[in-house]
Parts: sequence; C-alpha cells; structure tokens
Amino acid sequence: MSRMIRAETIRKVREVVAHARAAGRLISFVPTMGALHAGHAALLGAARADGAFTVVSIFVNPTQFGPSEDFASYPRDAEGDLRLCKQHGVDLVFLPSATEMYPHAPLTSVSVDRLTRHLCGPHRPGHFAGVATVVLKLLNIVTPDVACFGQKDAQQLAVVRRMVADLDLPVRIAGVPTVREADGLAMSSRNRRLSAVDREQALCLVRALREAERMARDGVREVADIEARMREVVRAAGPSTIDYVSVVDCDELQPIDRIHGPALAALAVRIGATRLIDNLVIGPPPDPPAATGTRPTRTDREPS
Ligand code: PAJ
Repeated sequence: MSRMIRAETIRKVREVVAHARAAGRLISFVPTMGALHAGHAALLGAARADGAFTVVSIFVNPTQFGPSEDFASYPRDAEGDLRLCKQHGVDLVFLPSATEMYPHAPLTSVSVDRLTRHLCGPHRPGHFAGVATVVLKLLNIVTPDVACFGQKDAQQLAVVRRMVADLDLPVRIAGVPTVREADGLAMSSRNRRLSAVDREQALCLVRALREAERMARDGVREVADIEARMREVVRAAGPSTIDYVSVVDCDELQPIDRIHGPALAALAVRIGATRLIDNLVIGPPPDPPAATGTRPTRTDREPS
C-alpha cells in the first residue's frame, strides 16, 4: 500500500492530483469537517470502490456557521482523523488552514435557491451558501471525477447536486446511505458532545422517523397527521427544542400536504446545546418502469 500524502496547501493538492491523473487514475473526493466516524468511513469506502485515487479534505469551514452556532466548539480530532484515513486507504488528505482557503474576505458566493427555503435553510441563514461555496472551491481545487456525500445531510446533498447541474461542473456526485449506530442513532461528529442522558434522548429523532415510516406504510396520507405524531414522539423523550419536523417532496424539498410517492421525512432537534438532524425516505415506492418491472429496493430509495 502506498503512503498517505498530507497537503496543507492548494498548490500541493493540485500537484499531487495532477500526478495521479497523469498516471491514469480516476480521482474521487470526500469533503469533510473532520471528527471522522463510521459514517465518513462509508463515504471513503464508496470513494475507493473502483480503485480511484482518493482525496479527503478536513476543514471546519467557518462560513457555513452562523454567529451563534458551534464553530468554536465543533469537535476537532486531527490525529484520530489521520489514523482513520490511513486505515481506509486514503491517498491524499487536504488539511488547509482558514487563511489558505480564505486569504481575503471573499466577495463571491454561490446560493442555491428553492431547495434551501425549507428544512434547515430558514433556521441557518447563510449556511447553504457557505456550504455550496466551499464545496465549489474544494471541487475546483481537487478536480475529482467523483465526489461522495452522505444522505444524512439530505438537503446538503440536494443542494450540491443542483449546483453541479446548474453550473455544469464536470464531476459525478455519489450519494451514500446514512450510517447508524446499532440502536439507530445517525452517526454524527456532534454526537461526541452528547452526555449519556442526551445520548439516550437523541434516539427520539430516529424513533420519530420510524414512526413516520410506519404510518406511511399503514396508509396514512395526511402529512399534518404524520408531522404531529413525529412531534409527539420527540416531546415524549424529554425537554428539547424542535427546529422543524417536516415531510417534503424528495426532489425539490418542498412541503407537501399528502403522500403520493416517496417523500422525505426530516427533522432538526436541539438537545441541550447540541443540534441534531436526521431524515428518512418514507411512503410508497414509485411505480416501477413498465419495461423492466423491477421494483426499487430500499437502498435505492434516496432523493435524487
Ligand atoms: P461533515 O459533517 O464532516 O460531513 C462530511 C460528509 O459525511 C457529508 O457528506 C455528510 O453527509 C457525510 N456524513 C456525515 N454523517 C454521516 C452518516 N451518519 N452516514 C453517512 N454519511 C454521513 O457535511 C459537511 O461535513 C460539510 O458541510 C462539508 C460538505 C464538508 C462542507 O464544509
């Protein structure tokens, strides 16, 4: 196995990637903010799947955090991250400083409309512009053939896909299903900050989603009923602040009144000082294409 390369500068990343490409390698890319866990590892697995030269970035991007959010206290674990990258056969880790990424206050930003109007958008003003802009910068630096993003952040994945389509970026975006703990809690860097009591309470997110899934399976079609039940499940677990509980269409993430086909149930809940998000595709699968007759399996059920 070849050595993992570390780069702190954009220049070095470009050099190393150019070298790998000249050697005929496909380039795959996993952007992260570090404090890596098994969810990130699944992205690394997907990135390496076809023997691509795998690049990971670790950068806690300040521009996607609001002034009262947790930028300063966001978990950081460079040593553990490098170890995990090495274990998963990453070829190049990009660890830029904030001044490397933003040598001067940027005057340019990318904003993706419509997809950001609901769910986390209204609760985190400027967040998705910060994400889209840094992802575009990273894609321009790494120039990957494939970039992997988690379904855990479904709205982010939709925003990135749309930016790539709208701006004709020459990269394929791969979505990776959410990795969960054995008890169902979606893996997240922010889980590190939960106390034992908070950790137990945090299960209310996946419990609410599974309740929504069950209701949709049992034929409930009114979204208001499903959302009301999800709120009940969250409240029953203990004191928390619900940012939103929402069922939206899978394509443009717009609120819907009734469930017709697959829909995205999503929620954001603050437990203590920690804000957690999760989502699940619920509802009947789309009708199979007449020609093939194959029904989508559960793992196929991911918003485009
Ligand atoms: P971060 O939260 O570190 O997540 C990096 C990637 O890992 C994202 O694509 C996210 O969806 C994915 N991920 C996180 N938890 C996961 C889980 N339990 N299962 C599957 N995938 C999971 O998302 C960001 O960083 C940033 O916004 C970034 C895109 C790097 C831009 O700064």
